[in-house]
Amino acid sequence: MTEHQPTRGPRRLRRAVAVLLAGFFAWALSGCQAATVPTVPTPVPAATLFAQGRCGACHIIPGVPQATGQVGPSLCETAQAYREGQLTLQDIMDDIARPNARVHAGYLDDVMPDDYAEKFSAAELRTMAEYIAGLTCSAAPTPTE
Ligand code: HEC
Repeated sequence: MTEHQPTRGPRRLRRAVAVLLAGFFAWALSGCQAATVPTVPTPVPAATLFAQGRCGACHIIPGVPQATGQVGPSLCETAQAYREGQLTLQDIMDDIARPNARVHAGYLDDVMPDDYAEKFSAAELRTMAEYIAGLTCSAAPTPTE
């Protein structure tokens, strides 16, 4: 009976260590989640995000109804630049989040709203950038007017 006594202390210590470890892993995992946000699939499709951002008022976005604006460049041309290696996916995300950091040649500065990084999550910006990167101009809808 008495020979079991000495194990009590270490067992309690092991419990405390286990609780601490569990807490540490929970913290470490939550850190990982924050770091991988852009790759977490978003349930909101790109076309809905474009509608929410009213991007089509200024841009042609093939496959997105009413996206026939001419104020900004047609986004299928952005896709072409992406395929030719002139732009990365990150560049397209930056163009949406900080439009005045790199202004498309031949277009005006300070026209595109610069608050999309506040309105959309990083995952949503990525969803839009991925959609844009996959566009082809041949599928462009004809302007309605
Ligand atoms: C009020 C008009 C307007 C709206 C709304 C707008 N844009 Fe723009 N956008 C522009 C103009 C003008 C440019 C070109 C000047 C520049 O690069 O900032 C541009 C540039 C861009 C570019 C860079 C294109 C390239 O090839 O360099 C991307 C990508 C883009 N817009 C995506 C979007 C998305 C996505 C939305 C909606 C979330 C949006 N824009 C909403 C006017 C607009």
